[in-house]
Formats: sequence, C-alpha cells, structure tokens
Amino acid sequence: MFTKNSIIGIVGSGAMGSGIALVAATAEHQTLIYDTNSIALEKAKTNLNASLIKLVEKQKITQHKADSIVQLTTFTNQINDLSTCHLIIEAIIENSDVKQKVFQELESIVSNTCVLASNTSSLSITSIASACKNPERVIGIHFFNPATLMPLVEIIPGIATNPDITIACKIVIDSWKKVTVIAKDTPGFIVNRVARPFYSEALRIYDEQLADIPTIDWAMREIGGFKMGPFELMDLIGHDVNYVVTETVWTQFYYDPRFKPSLSQKRLLEAKFLGKKSGRGFYDYREGAINPEPNKDEALGKYIVNRVLCMLINEAADTHYLGIASVNDIDLAMTKGVNYPKGLLKWADEIGLPSILETLNVLYNDYQEDRYRACILLKNNVKQGKSFY
Ligand SMILES: NC(=O)c1ccc[n+]([C@@H]2O[C@H](COP(=O)([O-])OP(=O)(O)OC[C@H]3O[C@@H](n4cnc5c(N)ncnc54)[C@H](O)[C@@H]3O)[C@@H](O)[C@H]2O)c1
Repeated sequence: MFTKNSIIGIVGSGAMGSGIALVAATAEHQTLIYDTNSIALEKAKTNLNASLIKLVEKQKITQHKADSIVQLTTFTNQINDLSTCHLIIEAIIENSDVKQKVFQELESIVSNTCVLASNTSSLSITSIASACKNPERVIGIHFFNPATLMPLVEIIPGIATNPDITIACKIVIDSWKKVTVIAKDTPGFIVNRVARPFYSEALRIYDEQLADIPTIDWAMREIGGFKMGPFELMDLIGHDVNYVVTETVWTQFYYDPRFKPSLSQKRLLEAKFLGKKSGRGFYDYREGAINPEPNKDEALGKYIVNRVLCMLINEAADTHYLGIASVNDIDLAMTKGVNYPKGLLKWADEIGLPSILETLNVLYNDYQEDRYRACILLKNNVKQGKSFY
C-alpha cells in the first residue's frame, strides 16, 4: 500500500510531530509538516536544522543525507497542502474534540485512499475515527518520546479499522527502522498500561512507609536491574504528565483499584513540584540540595523488587489474557518502549509462575484488596504447569 514515494503528512509540529517528521524524512519520504501555529512551525524548522547539524557533527549521518532530509521536508500552515499525502500522522493537543475536528477536515481534503493516523497516548482511536465518514482508514500509530531515538511504535487499529491498513502501517513503520507492536484499542495500549505498577506499587510501598524514596529507587536499579528507579523516573517524566496518565488510565478502566493513583504524587502536582524540570519533585534538584541516602538492606531491597515486579508481570499477563497484545509484543513493547531489562513474561518464566502467584496471593490475603487479584491466566498456567513461552 505504501512505497518510498508515499508522501507523509504530519499534523502538529511540537515535540512528537517534529520527531516523527524527521523519522519519515530520514526514511526518504517526502514529508509535510502542518501546524496552525506559525511560531511553533518556525521553532520546529530551527530545531530540525540544529538536530541535523549535531547528527552530522557526531558522524551519525552524512552532510548529503542531512541536505536530502531538508529537501524532503516542507513546513506549512495550510491544511490544504496535505491533500496529496498517502499517510497522515496527527500529533496535536491531546483533546478528543479537537482531534475529531482535525480528522474531519483532513478527510474533506485528502484522497479516498489516504490513511489517517493519530499519535494519541490516551484517547480511544475508535472514538476519534467515529467522527470520520470512513473510519476504516483511521488507526493509531503511537511513537514514544523522543520519536527519533525510541525504537518502539504501537500500532492500534480501532474497531472499524480495515485490517489491510493495519498491516500496511506496520510494514511502512518497520521500514522506518522502528520496532512495531500491535495493540487493541484499550486505555494505555500496551506500554502505558503495563508500566503503571512500576510507579503505583512503588508509591504504595512509600505511602505505607515500608521504605523511603531513595531506598526504593536503589532496590529497583541495583537489584531489579532497571535503568532508573520509579521515583527518579517520575521526576524526569514530570508529574504533570506521569500523574495525569495514571489518573486517565484509572478512570478509563472504571476506577479499577489496580490502577489507583497515589495522593502523594497528586500533592506534588498540586504544589507544582513537577520534578526535575521545576527543581523539585520527589527529590530536590535545587542547587546545594542534599537528598537522603538509600538504606541498602538486601532483604528489604529484594522485597521491594519482588513486589513491584510481580505486579508488573500480573498486568502483563492480564494484557495478554484480555487479547490486547501477544506475549511477544508485550515483551518487545516493554523492552523497546521503556527499556526494561527483560521482557516481563520471559522474566516471569525465568522466576517461575508459582512463585509470582504466591507473592500476589499473599498480598491479596493480607490486604483483601482487588488491586492484588492474580490474573486468571497466571492461575491457570500454574495449575497446568505451563509457562508464557
Ligand atoms: N510528549 C510525549 O511524550 C508524547 C509521547 C507519545 C505521544 N504523545 C501524543 O502526541 C500528541 C502531541 O504531543 P506533543 O507532546 O508533541 O504536543 P506539543 O504540545 O509539543 O505539540 C502540539 C502541536 O500541535 C499544534 N496544534 C494544536 N492544535 C492544532 C490543530 N488543530 N491543527 C494543527 N496543529 C495544531 C500546536 O501548535 C503544537 O505545535 C498528543 O496526542 C500526545 O498525547 C506525546
């Protein structure tokens, strides 16, 4: 369906749109970036040139390649310029009404075969598509930030999406040297759903005063093998983004206690302690600030890692059980989208499913909370002596 000659349109020239445009132009597509805001467009153009200069300096690309990317990329504030596109990826403000309006406008100017995709992180693709005359051509193509560096792209067909379009999008994005996974149109898709316990169970341990922040981060890094601890990662992402994703996933899942946000994080947001970018979050980043040292108690560290990891594995198992993605795609998503040291389901097989179920059952019995209910697939696999792979 798509070839090297396919023209790619990008709507929104912000952080994501400009990154996706650079990926498409690097893959030799003629790429058009449209934004209503001329200042944003100008900024995107300046940023593109600056990125290309850096890439050439670091010898990641040749000057010839940089020149060809510039030649292939056009910036416009006229939506009609997108009329010749074969695939348009929208990356504008995360608002369903605004996105629906843009999709309707796009549909009125493009050809019947043009595919319309959204880079939304949290909205339903089916709902965005419902505003279109032809929802069969609408799909989710979800890049991670920064789009140029993060290998993972989630492909999300809505309930009306033509399966041929799903396959064509997967093929074209693979050809852009990305790793694609297919996810059912459900809140958080794969990564933003499966990763929730990384934050929420760590927050729960902290809220219960079982361990302090540096200790939990130390345990997850040094014993768990994660690149960053949950609190330093939340501070890096920013609580305005991370808390809002958690709350959105929780409300969209009808307040399932498994996704319940933490008041400690909400208070940080209310105080505008947004994390690294504002100088304060769970840690203090102001000049001269001294943060507490972790308690490097091995037994406590192992307890923390086991509890968070079992909750992550339980979510990964449920995501597979509910048909949202395959075992392989879930593991690929978590290793390529958020740099987990291992795929969670492969990790589960290595640990042994009975031990994971035992941890969850102990938590469930102790707390009597639905949050700790074990996934039925995990239970069945243990009963039948099966593994995920
Ligand atoms: N930032 C992330 O980490 C991230 C990661 C994955 C997905 N996303 C999703 O990508 C989308 C964009 O996020 P972002 O961080 O790049 O936002 P951003 O605020 O950096 O950029 C959005 C751009 O869209 C433009 N815009 C707004 N309304 C428009 C309209 N009606 N028509 C044309 N242009 C319009 C704005 O002028 C702005 O330049 C959102 O849906 C977000 O959920 C973001």
